[in-house]
Amino acid sequence: MPKITLGRSEGDKKKFGPRKGTGFIGKHLVGEKGEAHVANPIYMDMARPHVIGVFGKRGTGKSYSMGTMAEEIITAPEDVSNNLSAIIIDPMGIYWSMKFPNENDAILLDKWDLKPEAMDIKLYIPEGQEENFIKEDIPYDKTFTLRPGELETSDWAMSFDILLNEPRGILLEKVLRDLKNDKGEDFGLDDMIKYAETHGDFKEETRKALINRFMAAKEWGIFSKEGSNLDEFTRRGELTILDLSQFGAIRGSWSVRSLVVGLLANKILRERMSSKRLEEMREMEGMQTSESPIVWMFIDEAHQFIPNDHKTPASDPLLSWVKIGREPGVSLVLCTQQPYKLNADALSQCDIVLSHKLTAKSDIDALKNIMQNYMRYDLSTYIDNLPDAKGAAICLDDNSERVYSLRMRPRMSWHAGGTPTALKNK
Ligand SMILES: Nc1ncnc2c1ncn2[C@@H]1O[C@H](COP(=O)(O)OP(=O)(O)OP(=O)(O)O)[C@@H](O)[C@H]1O
Ligand SMILES: [Mg+2]
Repeated sequence: MPKITLGRSEGDKKKFGPRKGTGFIGKHLVGEKGEAHVANPIYMDMARPHVIGVFGKRGTGKSYSMGTMAEEIITAPEDVSNNLSAIIIDPMGIYWSMKFPNENDAILLDKWDLKPEAMDIKLYIPEGQEENFIKEDIPYDKTFTLRPGELETSDWAMSFDILLNEPRGILLEKVLRDLKNDKGEDFGLDDMIKYAETHGDFKEETRKALINRFMAAKEWGIFSKEGSNLDEFTRRGELTILDLSQFGAIRGSWSVRSLVVGLLANKILRERMSSKRLEEMREMEGMQTSESPIVWMFIDEAHQFIPNDHKTPASDPLLSWVKIGREPGVSLVLCTQQPYKLNADALSQCDIVLSHKLTAKSDIDALKNIMQNYMRYDLSTYIDNLPDAKGAAICLDDNSERVYSLRMRPRMSWHAGGTPTALKNK
């Protein structure tokens, strides 16, 4: 049986060898339905940038599988993990439990020659939400804030759900333009409120309406004049988790989450593009280069950040990752229950698709549209033939133009999944 490494080209197999820079994610499933049994291990390339889609209906193991991939990055041998860096965008607040070993599945892990293992993750939460996390007994490492000055007017408008050509939008544009002229990027929400009270010639009700939005933004707990150093999120060999789960009660909470993701994605891409250029210049001068790490961003519930039917503040930044990410070296993993709700360009750029069971016709059709050409059977046949076992999935690998059935391996770290009070029961 040939060795299976998803996402690795023949050239890279020669250059790096079959295993280096890959992660063990599961085993090949041979046979159909109840007859299926696991065979050869399946590895996934981590040394090159990829766009990966992780799909499946509710409770089929998508978030779990993303955690498995992230585990492989952080537990890779040092010479590999040093060239990688990973961030999980966690809108449901389920990845903090990676800090604990998966003792519950010790027997299952043993069958896979694996052991329960706690992961050395860095969990970041919005500064203004510390109390919630303390109340819920969720262990976090650090807080973060963003600088309002780094956001574009259109980002604010999208988050506030206002149009730029209505009076509130025109005032918003004026406030931000004047502030940027006067202070550069060095201003906070209080400055924005002050400018909205006084600048331009606007009706009192327009001012009040915009100020109300600014006051609401204060409640989000993500802004400060200074802002955090977002470089911390992309340290070599580290897995950072951004817990964005506590916006539940906020109107438009997905827009706020998207604001955070959009800003972060933009910053990382810009930073990576300039460091790549620096590396190239050094190389031309004959100087030694230190490859900057490949940044992997894992996004759970990705259709909320980069949907098919409207734009969010994260849409354009994430599309840039998808379209030009190869060169600067950024990888994106997009996880969703509903691939048809995911932006069609993002979907079509996936070079690896991992799909657990799907039943909705619209979702299966969305996948058929992107990778039909090298499949021997109809996609539904592959999916129907999957056994009921947890973690069973099909994988479409654009590099080898092959489709595999596989069973994702059990997690070494604990997956709290849908059990929010799980820590208290430990
Ligand atoms: N590879 C696997 N091996 C063993 N158990 C698994 C595996 N994958 C998933 N599970 C089990 O299935 C449960 C559901 O998985 P998960 O939380 O990843 O679902 P999901 O697809 O993300 O669901 P949702 O759509 O609700 O977010 C997990 O809590 C875990 O117990
Ligand atoms: Mg999930």
